[in-house]
Amino acid sequence: MNLSIKNPMIHRLLLCLAGAALLSSCVNKQSDKEYDNAVDIPVNQQMIAELTAPPNVPTPVGKRKAKKLIVDMEILELEGEMTSGVSYIYWTFGGTVPGSFIRTRVGDEIEFHLKNHPDNKLPHNIDLHAVNGPGGGAESSLVAPGHEKVFSFKVLNPGIYVYHCATAPVGMHIANGMYGLILVEPEGGLPPVDKEYYIMQGDFYTEGKYGERGLQAFDMQKAVNETADYVVFNGHVGALTGDNAITATAGETVRLFMGNGGPNLVSSFHMIGEIFDKVHVEGGSLVNENVQTTLIPAGGAVMMEFRVDVPGDYILVDHSIFRAFNKGALGMLKVDGEEDLKIYSGEQSEQIYLPEGGVIQSMPGSKAKSEEVKATSLEERIKFGKDIYGRTCFACHQADGKGIEDAFPPLANSDYLNADVDRAIDIVLHGLTGEITVNGKQFNSVMTAQNLSDEETANVLSYVYNSWGNSKKEVTPEMVEAVRNR
Ligand code: CU
Repeated sequence: MNLSIKNPMIHRLLLCLAGAALLSSCVNKQSDKEYDNAVDIPVNQQMIAELTAPPNVPTPVGKRKAKKLIVDMEILELEGEMTSGVSYIYWTFGGTVPGSFIRTRVGDEIEFHLKNHPDNKLPHNIDLHAVNGPGGGAESSLVAPGHEKVFSFKVLNPGIYVYHCATAPVGMHIANGMYGLILVEPEGGLPPVDKEYYIMQGDFYTEGKYGERGLQAFDMQKAVNETADYVVFNGHVGALTGDNAITATAGETVRLFMGNGGPNLVSSFHMIGEIFDKVHVEGGSLVNENVQTTLIPAGGAVMMEFRVDVPGDYILVDHSIFRAFNKGALGMLKVDGEEDLKIYSGEQSEQIYLPEGGVIQSMPGSKAKSEEVKATSLEERIKFGKDIYGRTCFACHQADGKGIEDAFPPLANSDYLNADVDRAIDIVLHGLTGEITVNGKQFNSVMTAQNLSDEETANVLSYVYNSWGNSKKEVTPEMVEAVRNR
């Protein structure tokens, strides 16, 4: 329930007695709200609810009166792509993960039609966290394949709410993608913004490890252990990167409706390079301001607003950061428009920094040559190189050398790598910035110079060249030294 005090007169009196300072706001509040209790808001017309697939949201409610809103939701079990080469059978509300976005206002009466497609294999239902009633609707909506269930509820509390399937085993239905968001706008609607988007995080558990090719089955034991193979935004790796990135123009205001389906993990949601001006904490009425990272519980949601000031690529992550770079929880907001150098200068200069003068210094972390065990064969060089790769390279380029789409280029089967060994040595020694094309795809990121000795550089490059379909070259310390000295 939204209000525990049913008598509107007593409620108003208590509010006004709360203090003299509150008196004026209390009067204002009364003047722009027609009803003290949302349950009294009348409904006279009916309309079909607009439902949208992520990352899109339906038209704002604006000033419209409360209505009887018909929600027509179809459950579909279908095969989709988790990441390149990996497919998964998703169970969905409306054919997408997360499910169709439902947009309502306080006082709407929802007539919910839940249809289970005849080709589906299982019964399902729906628990909407915006419902005041047993099971959030689940008890009234269990529906077998080829059937339709109808139930109604009145939305009383403004906020952003998760809905999900609650059919046993509940965790399994949620883990397969059965969740989405329902927005309840206050009377008069949310303040207008320029752009609105719909995102949900979810964790997935597959029999094969991350990236293992083919159709992957759900792994119940991994789900019980909470050891996710994939943690993603909007159902699969890359749903919000590359051509799928969300967009805005510098100067625009953006609102994100951001939920977490779970089933297990809590999201530390962060946007690299942006501060959330306002966050509706846990999706409710409490507004926090100037937030860097906001916590989104499993089965919870937040609503955040921010103004984008300068153009660029802003990366959305779960700041439990291995999830972002190793399990898929990475998205992108691409902002175009005018630079504002007062807000962000970009790189202004780079100078040599030599606090101890111009003598030759050893880089931190590099070993003196005398301590180093040198490889005596190509096999040993590859073996040593694999260890270096595991502690230096794999976070970006991944254990399988495939990189991260739109962020870090692949080393596997890499035309760029195989075309020029000296260039590869130079990049490991000195780093690389700017646009390159690898296997027909463009990348524009930064690789820092690595603090590796000539021996270590030779070993790691020999490992890379002798892995994943590359050209099987051996890189020697002498080759590295030649590039270092040129
Ligand atoms: Cu279900």
